[in-house]
Amino acid sequence: TFPQRIFSGIQPSGGLTLGNYLGALKRFVEKQDEGIETIYCLVDLHAITVWQDPERLRQQTREAAAAFIAAGIDPDRSILFNQSQVTGHAELAWIFNCVARIGWMYRMTQFKDKTAGKNAENSSLGLLAYPSLMAADILLYKATHVPVGEDQKQHLELARDIAAKFNHDYGRTFFPITEPVIEGAGTRVMSLTDGTKKMSKSDPSDNSRINLTDDADAIAKKIRRAKTDSEPLPESAEGLKDRPDARNLINIYAGLSGLSVDQVVTEFAGAQFGTFKPKLADLAVAKLSPITTEMNRLMKDPAEIDRILGKGADRADAIARPVIDETKDIVGM
Ligand code: ADP
Ligand code: NA
Repeated sequence: TFPQRIFSGIQPSGGLTLGNYLGALKRFVEKQDEGIETIYCLVDLHAITVWQDPERLRQQTREAAAAFIAAGIDPDRSILFNQSQVTGHAELAWIFNCVARIGWMYRMTQFKDKTAGKNAENSSLGLLAYPSLMAADILLYKATHVPVGEDQKQHLELARDIAAKFNHDYGRTFFPITEPVIEGAGTRVMSLTDGTKKMSKSDPSDNSRINLTDDADAIAKKIRRAKTDSEPLPESAEGLKDRPDARNLINIYAGLSGLSVDQVVTEFAGAQFGTFKPKLADLAVAKLSPITTEMNRLMKDPAEIDRILGKGADRADAIARPVIDETKDIVGM
């Protein structure tokens, strides 16, 4: 058996959203505060699977690091670092490219979504192989648990398949079969302009998401304009079933407040959106503006952020190096 260790990552491919906060960052902090060993990574190697402007990538990597720290990640307790600074990720990913099968990659819904309406043959090879690198990220630390949003569940299953095939092919239980940790409200935050699509930093419409860098006015305005239907809020959670936009706003309220969806529904049973939305906006501003303020403060000293990430990379490498060395030995290198 493997000692409990948490690993997760976020792409520094754009400003972080409320979806990243509720689905990832907030959970990362909870795991750290439970006293579990936590390793958090800014996955810049994943970010370049689609074109990134080099200067912006550098800037967004620092901004994501600032968001982690502002949200409550303590870089002394958790390991916080940048993927490309620990060479074991790319090394193990190559070995996993030779363990995983091409057909596994073509089945991934994220690959299908990201190439929908485009010529898939013309996307980067990295975009197709992305889940293999993600498996390497996790297994390089023999992580047992990965907190993620719903959207990453299929990639996690693939990481489990890769670990199992490696263990089988080389006849030993070397890698753990990692468990996803997907629980509670906020694991699937949807777009504010279309409750059937996930909120994403890569959505072309800025009104579809709340960014962690949005000020109080922007947050209030986006919530006021969020898509809804004309019915009042239902008396029970059942009544949210065919109302994706209403369900999303209730879900966001639950995620931010720490209440259950049922509790929020009870509190606002029969209310109009005109009553509910300002309450939601106040809550979002109260929870997010201290994070935004702290991010802005941290971003004034990029050298300090680089120093923190460098120290995190050294600590990550100390765990990763023996694992990659042993993996190569197992493979015959
Ligand atoms: P994005 O999808 O915004 O590009 P990433 O792929 O970097 O974000 O995902 C980082 C983390 O944030 C993952 O754990 C992912 O599951 C989570 N996440 C992203 N978007 C959402 C969302 N809309 N709701 C809940 N969690 C999300
Ligand atoms: Na994602």
